[in-house]
Amino acid sequence: MKTKTRCIGILTSGGDCPGLNAAIRGVAKAAITEYGMQVVGILDGFRGLVEGRTMPLDDHLVSGILTTGGTILGTSRDKPRKMLMGGEVLDMTTTAVANARRLGIDCLVCLGGGGTQKNALHLHREAGLDVLTLPKTIDNDVPETDVSFGFDTAMSIATEAIDRLHTTASSHQRLIICEVMGHNAGWLALGSGIAGGADVILIPEIPYDLDVISDLLLDRRRRGKRFSIVALAEGAHPRGEPEDGAAPPRHHKPKKEPPPDAEDEAPLVQESKASRLARHLQRMTGIEARVTSLGHVQRGGIPTPADRLLCTRLGAAAAELLARGVYNVMVAVKGDKCVPVPLDKVAGRKKTVPPDHPWIGAARLVGTCFGDKRT
Ligand code: F6P
Repeated sequence: MKTKTRCIGILTSGGDCPGLNAAIRGVAKAAITEYGMQVVGILDGFRGLVEGRTMPLDDHLVSGILTTGGTILGTSRDKPRKMLMGGEVLDMTTTAVANARRLGIDCLVCLGGGGTQKNALHLHREAGLDVLTLPKTIDNDVPETDVSFGFDTAMSIATEAIDRLHTTASSHQRLIICEVMGHNAGWLALGSGIAGGADVILIPEIPYDLDVISDLLLDRRRRGKRFSIVALAEGAHPRGEPEDGAAPPRHHKPKKEPPPDAEDEAPLVQESKASRLARHLQRMTGIEARVTSLGHVQRGGIPTPADRLLCTRLGAAAAELLARGVYNVMVAVKGDKCVPVPLDKVAGRKKTVPPDHPWIGAARLVGTCFGDKRT
């Protein structure tokens, strides 16, 4: 097949998630076998590009990775624009692009979430490098696409955890709060909370009221229910409390590397939001409460069949677009199709849960509480 692109670089950036390898395989296999492109793997995200750390990818190297978790290329949260180099934060944009040119890369394929979309657009706008991105994140908050890869797997893991928590909650007549990732978007808590039958789902898009939740818990107890499960998004917050700082900071912004002893003194464990919520609700209701925080378990292990399928479709569509010379777009999922969306419509925006989303409507109809007063 004819191709307008002879050589591509592929990097994975931001938090790892299941499906990254399936997507690398999808892009690389189609690019190599169908279009005869040369494919360079860039290690550890944008840092690897700046430091010139790469590996050649061939058909053999991307075989057998459809089902594996993590990323064979490694990842990091480093940004070309502000990178910690030898103790100082420097703008490494020019170096990143010079290295891409030296490697003969016609287009840089970046697999990542919101930060990656911004970094890719930055390389194009500020230094003229052609880029193409795929939407990856368990948070599902990349705009202009129906879904991002990694979300389905994380939702399955969180759902299974909520399923399993039911047995202990019921046996011991407890309240269990399950903290789910998602940064400042509630998709993961909402999806897994509904699928796992959580009684209360708390998401950042709907600030909650402690009184509403405690009334619900007491009412359940009066009606003879032996337990309650709360799915708590890490970014959820009480009404009147600012959203900022709701989720842990994702991007470390050190001006300089801290002196070794300062790091030792920093507290490693603070009371989590889930523990604080459990403490308040236990005090208000007298119901014994426990907390489970799923953390990085949600990003680990093998991708679900739905994510493997999605990554293969997105990867193959990306190779097709590259062959046609379509650059500076994100490959999005819209219904049955994978379509290019201009990157400037994606970068810097976030897809949060609309409070009138049909998932919320359905959950309310089956009695799920969102911690707000229903009007
Ligand atoms: O974006 C994915 C995500 O897992 C978020 O849900 C979470 O807030 C964040 O990354 C955690 O980041 P890190 O793995 O860097 O601690």
